[in-house]
Amino acid sequence: MEKKNKILSITLVLAMLIGTVALSGCTQEDENKIIIGTSADFPPFEFKAANQTIVGFDIDLIKKILTDQGYTVEVQDIGFDSLIPSLQTDKIDVIAAAMTITDERLLEVDFSNPYYDANQAVLVKVDSGVNITKIQDLKNYTIGAQTGTTGWAWVNDTLVATGNLSEDKFRSYELYTDAVADLIIGPSRVGAVVIDSPVAQAFAKSGDVRIVLNITTNENYGFAVKKGNTELLAKINTGLAGVKATAYWEDLIEKYFTT
Ligand code: ARG
Repeated sequence: MEKKNKILSITLVLAMLIGTVALSGCTQEDENKIIIGTSADFPPFEFKAANQTIVGFDIDLIKKILTDQGYTVEVQDIGFDSLIPSLQTDKIDVIAAAMTITDERLLEVDFSNPYYDANQAVLVKVDSGVNITKIQDLKNYTIGAQTGTTGWAWVNDTLVATGNLSEDKFRSYELYTDAVADLIIGPSRVGAVVIDSPVAQAFAKSGDVRIVLNITTNENYGFAVKKGNTELLAKINTGLAGVKATAYWEDLIEKYFTT
């Protein structure tokens, strides 16, 4: 290489290096970026649209709250059971996953003020011959629920631990969408799925499955942050109250819970 060219290319490489350093040094935006963790198997709260983007009531709500508070956001789809560990290891900053505020979880994370209420429900396949009219009937079938959820805990504590459902008839799923897909295949896979009531209603809209039992559990959903992240929590609570005071809230309910 000619000397002049060499100097030119060294200069170019240097310029590129400086450029890269300057770009990554531009943390202004990064500091304001919040990573939202969810489990996109839970319509209408979080699910994948036809084009695979993650949408839903929780997603719209937390995005609105955080952008109103001056943050930029990114959504990551993580298995429900891995959400709390991901928060604790700083892989995500907030959980928006229709997560019920429970005493057990409060030992591990901090929750925002509640933003939605739910109970549990039992889903079966339409015309499957599965006959469930009361809780005691559940023992006759294979029962499914998503690992780590309150629905899973209800089946475990109320049925399995009490000897009312044999352990081999309890199927744990990583995703509720897989549990419902198995339900639709038929009772040889899973006879009934225990799932949050508003989500059971959303799945029932397809006409393939229907709700046969409601189980009162009085749950409240909250957004979770890492224990001690009081700054982010305060902003979420302020943002949530702000959103609830505007028409955006009614519009959001309308968008995801009607029709
Ligand atoms: N509300 C239930 C719980 O907190 C179920 C939440 C499941 N959420 C989800 N995105 N799959 O355990």
